[in-house]
Amino acid sequence: MCTRCWILALVLSVITGGMIFKFIISGSVEPASDGRMALQVTADERDFVLAEMRTFLASIQGITQGLTTDEMDSVVEAARRSGAAAQQTMPGSLVGKLPLEFKKLGFDTHRQFDQLALDAEQLGDHAYTLKQLSELINNCVACHATYRIDVIVE
Ligand code: HEC
Repeated sequence: MCTRCWILALVLSVITGGMIFKFIISGSVEPASDGRMALQVTADERDFVLAEMRTFLASIQGITQGLTTDEMDSVVEAARRSGAAAQQTMPGSLVGKLPLEFKKLGFDTHRQFDQLALDAEQLGDHAYTLKQLSELINNCVACHATYRIDVIVE
């Protein structure tokens, strides 16, 4: 029986577990002055996240405008701009810094834009699209209530 091997194996699994926790689950966050969790990212990474956010807002504008002018084609197009396929590839460095919950909310938001686009295309039901939009915006509200961004100097 090799005691040292066991100790080594134990130490390695603790390190691996810690890394899994850090890079997949917890990400790089610190409690912020306003009670939210602040993502600790570089200026470039922040620019990436915020650019995606402005695309979200532009999509919502396009969707509401399309609904009021009765142009379902524009609704579909505006929603797809925030769909999963339109997503820019996330910088690798950011993947490990975002908490799992943040990534889940982000992916789910893209998924809901895709679903809204598909249903708007196939059903053309204004009231239904508006209901989906209102549910989708809950994701925006929930994430903004929980997270903000702090830039760290690396
Ligand atoms: C997974 C989390 C998350 C989701 C979902 C999310 N946001 Fe954000 N958003 C953020 C964070 C974090 C910030 C930075 C806020 C801060 O630092 O105070 C931000 C900032 C923004 C900004 C400011 C952009 C800028 O250039 O300064 C806009 C606009 C925005 N979000 C719109 C939206 C809209 C619209 C939705 C829903 C369709 C949405 N966001 C969904 C996390 C999220």
